Amino acid sequence: MSKSRQHRNHEFTGPARASTYREGYPSGWYRLLNLSELKPGDVRAVDCLGKNLVVFRSEDSGAYKVLDAHCPHQGASLAGGEVQGDNLACPFHHWCFGGDGRLKKIPHTDKLPRVGVRSYPVREHCGMLWMFHDISGEALETPPYEPEPIPEIEDGTFRYRGSHTVPDVHMHLSEFCENSVDFQHFDVLHGDLTWPWTQIKIPWFGVQHEPGWYVDEDEGHKAYFTDFACVKFRGTPYPKSGANARITLFGPGGTVWFRFSLPELGDIILFQTHLPKEPLRQEIRFRWFADPKVPRILVWWVVGHWISQWKADVEIWENKIYRERPTLIALDGPVHKMRRWYKQFYVSSLPAEHADAAPAKTTKVRNGLNVLNESQAPSAAVLSPRED
Ligand SMILES: [Fe+2]
Repeated sequence: MSKSRQHRNHEFTGPARASTYREGYPSGWYRLLNLSELKPGDVRAVDCLGKNLVVFRSEDSGAYKVLDAHCPHQGASLAGGEVQGDNLACPFHHWCFGGDGRLKKIPHTDKLPRVGVRSYPVREHCGMLWMFHDISGEALETPPYEPEPIPEIEDGTFRYRGSHTVPDVHMHLSEFCENSVDFQHFDVLHGDLTWPWTQIKIPWFGVQHEPGWYVDEDEGHKAYFTDFACVKFRGTPYPKSGANARITLFGPGGTVWFRFSLPELGDIILFQTHLPKEPLRQEIRFRWFADPKVPRILVWWVVGHWISQWKADVEIWENKIYRERPTLIALDGPVHKMRRWYKQFYVSSLPAEHADAAPAKTTKVRNGLNVLNESQAPSAAVLSPRED
């Protein structure tokens, strides 16, 4: 790769590129932060998915909670507040909210208006805090699917081996999935063997790819990108040097993970997460685990090689637009198949009864607020989150 190419990142910074993509942040699970970033009692503002969120950790249970950040009273940010036991106190007038978003306490009065803030479903998964976002912007009580357990990580067979932080990337979330079906770009962008973590080419060596792509037969929210990659020397491939990679595209791409299988050694699992801060700005994080039989130097090489290849794509992603009707040729991968699959994430999973005025027996979302059962719920007029 020439130096001039490396210096072309993100030339088109205006709104024209964004206007070519579908509007909205697709429904799915997103990583907000690593669990280790918050101690019990800590509070953090997170600006993402078109929302201002506050994440806090209960002093009592240690549980992580995610709420809309702004107090219904006078609009102060709860992210400046203080955790008091299980609750979060607003810094402005000390109104206290529970992790379920309900107002629990106001100083010097027992008369509580029945207001609250949205509380979002979160899960602690593989050392990360994941939140389900619905494209409607509402908070679902029951997400349509759960984060997938990875037994080797959960039972401690695979060990945590590292993480990597990069500056925000000015790309659209969908581009990672688009890239997975673009089989023609592998030779062009990913054909060189590079030193791990860099784009410095290793002379005479190259990489040959055999990519594939398919949707999970049982769980429609998952698709897989597969690649058998082996080293080439002066143009001749050496299949014995190869390894298989299977990348799980979990929903619209907020969370994806790679399973690299190294023959006779074991597997490496690399999470790559995308959190949209803006339509064309992603916070991207990498975090990996490995079978202890895989030597650390090899883990470093495999992960570093992937990061090198990923960097080659970034330059394209930061400048490209979305072509709704791309000019495809027979050699291109299953672009339309992937796009048909991806469309499902632009549909809300709000339960049909959401708009129904019938009394609710369980927690449901109403007018943008999580409320408990109907007998405890305030009137719709009072519940309106925009009521001033
Ligand atoms: Fe690529």
